[in-house]
Amino acid sequence: MKIIRAKDYNDLSRKAANIISAQVILKPNCVLGLATGGSPVGTYAQLVDWYNKGDLDFSEVTTVNLDEYRGLPRTHDQSYWYFMQKNLFEHVNVRPDAVHVPDGSNPDAEAACKAYDQIIHDLGGIDLQLLGIGPDGHIGFNEPADHFPLGTHCVDLTESTIEANKRFFGGNADLVPKQAYTMGVGTIMQARKVLMVANGKGKAEIIKQAFFGPVTPEVPASILQMHPDFTLVGDEEALSLI
Ligand code: F6R
Repeated sequence: MKIIRAKDYNDLSRKAANIISAQVILKPNCVLGLATGGSPVGTYAQLVDWYNKGDLDFSEVTTVNLDEYRGLPRTHDQSYWYFMQKNLFEHVNVRPDAVHVPDGSNPDAEAACKAYDQIIHDLGGIDLQLLGIGPDGHIGFNEPADHFPLGTHCVDLTESTIEANKRFFGGNADLVPKQAYTMGVGTIMQARKVLMVANGKGKAEIIKQAFFGPVTPEVPASILQMHPDFTLVGDEEALSLI
């Protein structure tokens, strides 16, 4: 496990974008696993900036996102598909048919999850997986549990995640979908590189628990301690307890 200390959110975003750029430059046809949420927004903005300056080319890149709300169509402004279009895909030259997000509009959970695992399998796995971390230690939508789920599956969101995400639904928890399709912890662990971004005081306690406490499915991110190529980039606040 490597820990990179950044001064602030801007510095964190540049450092994380640097690692992703290195991946794209070294392997132009790489498979990038991507995340939504607040943490990676600055990273995506930095990648777009470097793309606009001509320093990055996404024409051969394929992407697979971690998760999607079940029941939200792609066009919904809170779907993760939409988030990715607005924050990255619309601004760079990634091919529209090379971007993948679980199909939240498919009500058949088993079929939707199986199809997503097949996509990742057919791509030969993920070269670099970008992650955030939830306040309860979740990665993707893998919430605290008594085991580490392997493949893509349908989850019930916990109260804590619904609370954390209601800010994106006008502050109304009733509007937050109650289920999601998420890549499993097994798939994340099979990524050849894993990069986590964490910022702010709110992440300090869970960062300490996840990476300096026991490896347990009660803190899903803790399993990353066992990943052979895991890098955490955090700002001073997020790393203040370690
Ligand atoms: C997003 C995802 C989530 C977030 C986590 C942190 O695709 O899978 O695990 O990474 O909830 O969210 P933020 O970055 O908003 O604190």
